[in-house]
Amino acid sequence: MSGQPWDIAAVRAHFDFPERGRIVTNNAASTQPPRELTELYRSLAPGYENVHRGQSSASQAMTRLFEDAHDTVARFLNAPGRRCVALYRNTTEAINAVMYSLLTEFRDGDNVVTTTLEHNSNFVPWYALCRDLLPRFGRRVEYRLARFDPDTGELDLAHLASLIDARTKLVCCTGASNFLGTRPPLAAVRALADASGYAQPNGEERSYLLVDGAQLVPGTFTDVQALGADYLAFSFHKLLAPFGVGVLCAREHLLESSLPFLYGGDMIAEGRVSADRVEYGPLPWKYAAGTPNILGAVVSAQALRLLLDLAQTPERATYFQTERPIEPETVRSAMNRVAAWNRELTARALDRLAALPGLTVYGPRDPARRTSLVAFNVAGHDPHDLARALNEAGVESRAGCHCAALAHRALGLTASCRLSFALYNTPEEVDYAVDVLGRVIAGRRRPRGEPAARSVTPHPQQIGSPS
Ligand SMILES: Cc1ncc(COP(=O)(O)O)c(C=O)c1O
Repeated sequence: MSGQPWDIAAVRAHFDFPERGRIVTNNAASTQPPRELTELYRSLAPGYENVHRGQSSASQAMTRLFEDAHDTVARFLNAPGRRCVALYRNTTEAINAVMYSLLTEFRDGDNVVTTTLEHNSNFVPWYALCRDLLPRFGRRVEYRLARFDPDTGELDLAHLASLIDARTKLVCCTGASNFLGTRPPLAAVRALADASGYAQPNGEERSYLLVDGAQLVPGTFTDVQALGADYLAFSFHKLLAPFGVGVLCAREHLLESSLPFLYGGDMIAEGRVSADRVEYGPLPWKYAAGTPNILGAVVSAQALRLLLDLAQTPERATYFQTERPIEPETVRSAMNRVAAWNRELTARALDRLAALPGLTVYGPRDPARRTSLVAFNVAGHDPHDLARALNEAGVESRAGCHCAALAHRALGLTASCRLSFALYNTPEEVDYAVDVLGRVIAGRRRPRGEPAARSVTPHPQQIGSPS
């Protein structure tokens, strides 16, 4: 299967947005939903019922689907099982859940190490913990920021190593930067965290590792056990399923021993609540207080099955809405194909952008060392103007700091313009976006009224054997 061409026409046929003439190259913010997922959402509506809260057949059926969704997520990540999977609204909420779960465990003098590559979601919670929350309980805990090389965009591992010590409870690192595209060497980060000697309350002597997988999981085979992440967070809205669900996949013993983030109904043990004693429910429901986003969770889990199909058999459903078990090798080969296609688009963008005068691309030059996005600035042009000009020509991009405020500051920037690619983008779209930028830089904007080249005719592309 891995040698088959990437049939981009068959992939795009699953989506409605191309019919609108949209050139969607802001995928690092959110991806587009395939038609099957919106149809599935609608088809589930007549059978909707709350979960764990009714004896009706509808409630039991919905409960089964909802619980199975956790199994699907676990299998996709090669996690040991559903007990490791807590669902939240998004990556941000999942990271906050970790922060609040560990809040009471921090001791005076501890630290949290994160990096200047992070999205605000993996910096601001740690800032708030250290500066706003723990000081109110009289505890001093500091956050430390590992820098990156401003020329290459690579994480400075030596600096990271110098920040981690025997008081580092947690190391928080992005799997891929949403600005520089950098993919930090997580195995090396894991090794540094393992060697810290921090005495965790459960007797482990190491720092925990939290990986922000928001930009990693959608385009890379992610095996949580091989990764050795104690916590992995990501959002489904960047993974074909904008239905309000994010994932926290964590080591079972940590979820078992930590305090939950939210308290209330459904997270308690059946019949174990009295005025002076409350027992929490089994995993993962201990982390699911209140009525969850039931349909969102069911449809999001199916997005993972559909992703396997789009990558391998886009002309037919092999995994989507089937009981077929998801094996790690299937996920690996499917995600390697997604990664190879993304890499091809990114390499093309990097090559062609490099030829534009005055344009600076940030982050690693090698497409194999970055995720599928390219952020840049053009001398003499406000990045917001570039994004507006792209939009006038039908190309959707993003200008700003992309919530990667620390990295922009580190480079002396306030903003950049970013193109980000997904499995349904075509090389022709990349070329078109770069041509538009070329015209803007040359001072030749497409006259208003002239149609944008929106109906890009895709051709199946041969991609090399994914590594
Ligand atoms: C690397 C990274 N982390 C975290 C987030 C936050 O994701 P969400 O808004 O879904 O919580 C994003 C979103 O752009 C991101 O790119």
